[in-house]
Amino acid sequence: MANVLQSIPADDPLAIPEQRALIDRILEENRHVPGAVMVVLNELQSQIGYISNPMQAYVAQKLRVPLTHVRGVVSFYSFFTTTPRGRHTVKFCMGTACYVGGAPALISKAQEELGIAVGQTTPDGQITLEVCRCIGACSQAPTVTVDRDIYGRVQPNTLPAILNKYRKSKK
Ligand code: FES
Repeated sequence: MANVLQSIPADDPLAIPEQRALIDRILEENRHVPGAVMVVLNELQSQIGYISNPMQAYVAQKLRVPLTHVRGVVSFYSFFTTTPRGRHTVKFCMGTACYVGGAPALISKAQEELGIAVGQTTPDGQITLEVCRCIGACSQAPTVTVDRDIYGRVQPNTLPAILNKYRKSKK
């Protein structure tokens, strides 16, 4: 564990006193609840915004579970992210209707346009690509959600215009 804390990058939440205190508080408050790993990871994701690799190692050590278990949970659920999110989050619905309706082609187009993979953020910190479950707008499939905006019946040739609205926007 000493290695983990000695080698963390200066910008990691564990290296920032305020965030480290928050992480410790979340661990302390939840370490004995049933399903502590999931509860802690959920709290870290919502309060810190992501769960870095050093944070995963820290959680494993504090909760006395194998690091592979923590990593497995983080990688299994798409709402966990291991790097900070961008200013805007673009989510592709991967529910059945959207999947069949062409979500994979939309994802390929977005990756090509932005030069990043799903789960990554553009180098300027502007856009993060993610996938999500059904958002309940199946009649509009395939859907793309950007922050709180929902776009329906999106096609690969209409996606770039949607992305462009957010690529430079500050809000
Ligand atoms: S499957 Fe995409 S909105 Fe329901």
